Amino acid sequence: MAIRIDFTNMMAPGIPGGITEAEWASAAEKFADAHMHVVAEHSAGTLGFLDLPDDQALHGQVTGFVKEVRARTGADRVTDVVVLGIGGSALGPIALRTSLRAPKWNELDDAGRGGWPKLHVLDNVDPVTIEALLARLDPQHALFVVISKSGGTAETMAQYMIIRQWLEHSVGPEGAKRRLVLVTDPQKGALRKIAKAEGITALDIPANVGGRFSVLTPVGLLPAALMGVDTSALLDGAAEVRTRSASKELAKNIAGAYAVLQWLSDTAHGRHIHVLMPYSDPLRDMADWFVQLWAESLGKHRVPGDDGVGPTPFGALGATDQHSKVQLFMEGPMDKTISFIAVEEGGKDIEIPRLHADIPELAYLGGHHLGELLDVERRATAGALARRGRPNLTISIDRVDAHHVGGLMMLLEMATVYAGALYGVDPMNQPGVELGKNFTYAIMGRPDAEQARQEWNLLPKPDPRYSA
Ligand code: PA5
Repeated sequence: MAIRIDFTNMMAPGIPGGITEAEWASAAEKFADAHMHVVAEHSAGTLGFLDLPDDQALHGQVTGFVKEVRARTGADRVTDVVVLGIGGSALGPIALRTSLRAPKWNELDDAGRGGWPKLHVLDNVDPVTIEALLARLDPQHALFVVISKSGGTAETMAQYMIIRQWLEHSVGPEGAKRRLVLVTDPQKGALRKIAKAEGITALDIPANVGGRFSVLTPVGLLPAALMGVDTSALLDGAAEVRTRSASKELAKNIAGAYAVLQWLSDTAHGRHIHVLMPYSDPLRDMADWFVQLWAESLGKHRVPGDDGVGPTPFGALGATDQHSKVQLFMEGPMDKTISFIAVEEGGKDIEIPRLHADIPELAYLGGHHLGELLDVERRATAGALARRGRPNLTISIDRVDAHHVGGLMMLLEMATVYAGALYGVDPMNQPGVELGKNFTYAIMGRPDAEQARQEWNLLPKPDPRYSA
């Protein structure tokens, strides 16, 4: 495998206002401390995602269940897998489907999917979407993967209850249980309770792996394996990058380098917005996955009541967003870094026909290839940004396959925990989303939400003077 980062365009003097050699050297010392912190946290058992590439037993839960599902034939055959989940329980499966299955997977017929099921992900509670999906699904041939680490997230649990009733009405109570698989904490939460009480299959999310770091648990592996993705290759790729991100020496630590570049750019150079811009349709949803990982892990208070720290992540897609967001990146505030993802071998390429020889502004394209054009556009955009003093780097991977995608995800996860240590925040928690959740519980009538109800009632009421 090869994953490389070229950060020439982050550095001064090539990029005026970029990172200087002196800053980079002194950041290496700061990184050694961050590394020590991460190693200590891992030893203390809080960074369970780092152990996932070696967790054969957990992977075995996935492969064992998939084998059982594949053995279902005839009237029982699974043609549609539906993930119910939100945040870290949905973005990983979406990114894996887009990157590792054929484009428009769900629009292919059975033969086009090689006999593997479609994968739908319900990651919101908008009734419009759920109703539309249920109207199209044959309950007999559906399998619902209910994913929630806590086992109690309101959105996912509401979906689960709707689906459970829908299944029971159409295939009966036992048929419903057979079409559900729960992915949750090994011990805690309502989903685990239901699994135990009713004998519904449940796969584990290890207690020390949080939602947005859980893509290499059954959260991501199960949906991926159900679609025929080589999950061993995903884990191997992740293990390889973990090794390349283990050194305390910054120069030998690829995830550390990514973290330090972004952290320095933010804290020392005012580059508060971090754009991830793959030049690859299969990797387009990787940007959304990264945005959640970076945002929920790093945007928080260092001590209660402070102003908060953390960069703002932002996703883009090349070349499409050259006609949308790149204008802002080129000439808007000098507050961004752009991380491109380049794919060296794009797979089958398409030659642009030599048409319109008499129209010079079209003729020059003839004989070139689309993959070549995509790559040239990325290089041109990176160069143009550099020319305007806008820092950017390029993560290159050989190809989009399970091995490299596993590696890329581990790279970004490890960069996130190193960045957490550099910023001085705990990347594993998300206290900032609790209040909104508690207000929802209070308004929806959850009995243990009395304190939130009182806080809610203290909020200013809508004032007619401020209504337009
Ligand atoms: O990353 C996280 O921890 C969150 O985004 C969670 O994944 C999200 O809130 C869903 O939580 P749960 O998996 O407990 O339903």
